[in-house]
Amino acid sequence: MTIQWFPGHMTRARRQIQEKLKLIDVVIELIDARLPLSSRNPMIDEILQGKPRLIIMNKADLADAAVTREWQNYFKEQGHTAFPVDASTGTGVKDIPGQLKLLLKEKIDKQIAKGMNPRAIRALIVGIPNVGKSTLINRLAGRSIAATGDRPGVTKGQQWIKVGGEIELLDTPGILWPKFEDQNVGYKLAVTGAIKEEILNAEDIAFFAVKYLVGYYWDAFRERFELDENTPHNPDDSDEIVAIMEAVGRKRGCLVSGGRVDLEKASRTLLRELRAGKMGRFSLESPY
Ligand code: G4P
Repeated sequence: MTIQWFPGHMTRARRQIQEKLKLIDVVIELIDARLPLSSRNPMIDEILQGKPRLIIMNKADLADAAVTREWQNYFKEQGHTAFPVDASTGTGVKDIPGQLKLLLKEKIDKQIAKGMNPRAIRALIVGIPNVGKSTLINRLAGRSIAATGDRPGVTKGQQWIKVGGEIELLDTPGILWPKFEDQNVGYKLAVTGAIKEEILNAEDIAFFAVKYLVGYYWDAFRERFELDENTPHNPDDSDEIVAIMEAVGRKRGCLVSGGRVDLEKASRTLLRELRAGKMGRFSLESPY
């Protein structure tokens, strides 16, 4: 899904989330494990108004596990619980209910001390488009939740999805906008597919990706695209980066008449393979 975020959309999104906050006890903030800062909403603290929050680093199957551990420590230092999940296969998802209960333990203990029977914990998933919100909702629900509210003319009230005996999840997530001010953030999001090539140019996105990956993941990159180990790959040398993109294009048969490389096609092919995890795991930013 590609959303063009204009100020009016942001205000509406924010208002919608704040309406939902009234109904819930805890927020599950979903971010992309490959870019935990760039996939966060810049105003998240202000929007959530102090609601207890669990941070889930989704798509951890695609991220560099060592870097994900660094992020986990980083968030811990900031006073948050964050842990990696792969919503597409369900890895890590079963830990979410226990973590939510832990976050609200004090509140629940107080209710019990007053002789009250604690009701189910009500949770809302929030995150930027494409981060995996629907996948996680379906995974937690254990079935496919039909998004009837997305069809024009179909209105529906909020539905609660029971997750085990003690958690209830709102069936529609809160959609947030990413940070746009920094161009690098846009490129990082585009490398992961969160921003589509219609918005940013495929060649520019691929250039950004190759520059980063040959710097940090040269061996994996070179193996995937069968490049000679002596291929010059200085990340700060634009000519070398373009030469690598062309070499990838030749390997993948992205040629135009005269044997020249079709750089646009090569870029799209390269990005498709990276997004599908064909080069292996990588992270696009680290906290330290
Ligand atoms: P959203 O509701 O936040 O917008 O995201 P959604 O669940 O639709 O997920 C977006 C894409 O990310 C989907 O791919 C989904 O399968 C994939 N995805 C979600 N969680 C994970 C995960 O933990 N690991 C991996 N590897 N992929 C995950 P898609 O259907 O192919 O959509 P698209 O790529 O065509 O956008």
